[in-house]
Amino acid sequence: MSGAPLVDQFGRTIEYLRISVTDRCNFRCQYCMPLEGMPWLPKADILSYEEIHEVVRQLGPLGLRRIRLTGGEPTIRPQLSRLVAMLRGVPEVEDIALSTNGVKLPQLAAELAAAGLDRVNISADSLRSERIVQIARRDLGFEPVAAAQAAEDAGLGPIKLNVVVMRGTNDDEVVDFARLTLAHAWHVRFIELMPVGQMESVTDAHVVPSEEILARIRAALGPLVPTAGPARGNGPAAYHRLEGALGTIGVITPMTHTYCGSCNRVRLTADGRLRTCLFGDHEVDLRTPLRAGLPLEPFVRQALAEKPEQHALLSRRNGGLRALSQVGG
Ligand code: 5AD
Ligand code: SF4
Repeated sequence: MSGAPLVDQFGRTIEYLRISVTDRCNFRCQYCMPLEGMPWLPKADILSYEEIHEVVRQLGPLGLRRIRLTGGEPTIRPQLSRLVAMLRGVPEVEDIALSTNGVKLPQLAAELAAAGLDRVNISADSLRSERIVQIARRDLGFEPVAAAQAAEDAGLGPIKLNVVVMRGTNDDEVVDFARLTLAHAWHVRFIELMPVGQMESVTDAHVVPSEEILARIRAALGPLVPTAGPARGNGPAAYHRLEGALGTIGVITPMTHTYCGSCNRVRLTADGRLRTCLFGDHEVDLRTPLRAGLPLEPFVRQALAEKPEQHALLSRRNGGLRALSQVGG
């Protein structure tokens, strides 16, 4: 089987790896982390950049083509651009993207682009400064539009803005976000809140179904035409465009529609476990064989053999599910 592409038991080809480089964050978003008492991973358990590079180097010949760096917040790990440059050197890797809360983008965008980063997704749940502080529970002076512009100016487009919609918190801003696509070639993606992580503001009652989000936008701004979306990064979003708009409007619907059938991804946690599904306990330890100098392919294939057909979010209660900062988004 050595060298054969990574195909799971349901015929899905895996070519996309999301790499969590840290479980820590400079924000404490309501839906993602508790305010206090996150059990951070000990430093010794976190993969070094050299170890992450080695995982990617071994997965390249098995069909890995696209990488996304996630967290926690990846930009708070020192010298992230050093990792980007190392990963850029893996010949099979075509696309390297970053998911960030955007706080450090004005400062880091140019150096990340120079190191070989292709593009960024920015999490932006509000355009209003007090509300950003209310949601992120840290006042870091984050300005989403300025961060997106800095990234675009550095060549990190097409820019995607990810908005987690929460009823009663920011659902009144969907039209403002949608309006951004009229003047900018940005892809604004509304994400249905996933009620995980045992937080009281994150329950089924706070989920706003994508149909409702799109209906509000249509009512305020006119018809939405289905469109192909950005050329690079074919994830689970469905895209639409307002008449005459430069950018697109996407919805990501973990709660109302399943897209598991076309799932092409696996995740590497900051402490070196390969997770084959966002939710559930489907993980295989890669750190131990990596540190023992063993080839990783058998462990990766074992993980894939156990990749579930669908995520457990809709069938299980919140209690057993870890917050997204712990599983790498
Ligand atoms: N529901 C939906 N998306 C979430 N994210 C984190 N936690 C949740 C959640 N409970 C995703 C969002 C956010 C990124 C950091 O992780 O996309 O922008
Ligand atoms: Fe940090 Fe993103 Fe989680 Fe907010 S959602 S706490 S920015 S990892």
